Amino acid sequence: MTVKLAPSILAADFARLGQQVTEAEQNGADRIHVDVMDGHFVPNLSMGPAIVQSLRRVTGLPLETHLMISDPDLFLDEFAAAGSDSFLVHWEGNNNLHRTVQRIRALGKRAAVAINPATPGAVLDEIVQDLDQVLVMTVNPGFGHQQFIRTTLPKIERVRALVERRKPGCEVGVDGGIDATTAPLVARAGATVLVAGSAIFGGREGVATAMKRLQTALNHMDDETEAAEQSALQRSQRCSSE
Ligand code: DX5
Ligand code: ZN
Repeated sequence: MTVKLAPSILAADFARLGQQVTEAEQNGADRIHVDVMDGHFVPNLSMGPAIVQSLRRVTGLPLETHLMISDPDLFLDEFAAAGSDSFLVHWEGNNNLHRTVQRIRALGKRAAVAINPATPGAVLDEIVQDLDQVLVMTVNPGFGHQQFIRTTLPKIERVRALVERRKPGCEVGVDGGIDATTAPLVARAGATVLVAGSAIFGGREGVATAMKRLQTALNHMDDETEAAEQSALQRSQRCSSE
């Protein structure tokens, strides 16, 4: 299954934002992830619709907007007008999640629901039919550069199984602590959209090299999986001929 990369601009150098996003686009980014924080839903502040509007002028990639804010309904129109293509809204603290999702669809945008590390994947059961994507948070939302929470791996597997059962075709994304080491782990667990901030924008090596490192880790994983499948096939052929 092809894995998509969604660079999160939270870790970008904002003084060179356009340039860095262009570099990500030229090196195989599939979409751009915009983290919106209100200092209330999460203990940090980040960016608003003006950034989306500026990005819209420099990239043709889909702009996905991760709303880590207490009342996402208040800002959907503004972000949609600015150029957001999809919205990731949280299950936590939203008493009207179905309504929020319907409003996103009514705006003609893609809808995704995100769940925090302590939230069971099963909460997606009654909403997944209405979604284009789910997002399993692999860190607690609010900050970039945090350590990947490994206990989310079995949850990604459970969410993948739930999606296959209820809405095959719905994408399974992960967000937080994704780098060349963790990318193959989450992809093996069933994630097909990987959000990565510091692993792409945070190092001195530059965006192109960072993108390549992630892509190589994922391609290498395909080789390993193929080799394992081949040897399993050979084993079973040997068994049946014995
Ligand atoms: C965290 C944000 C993430 C963040 C990921 O709250 O939702 O999108 O930018 O950053 P890294 O990849 O550095 O963990
Ligand atoms: Zn995010």
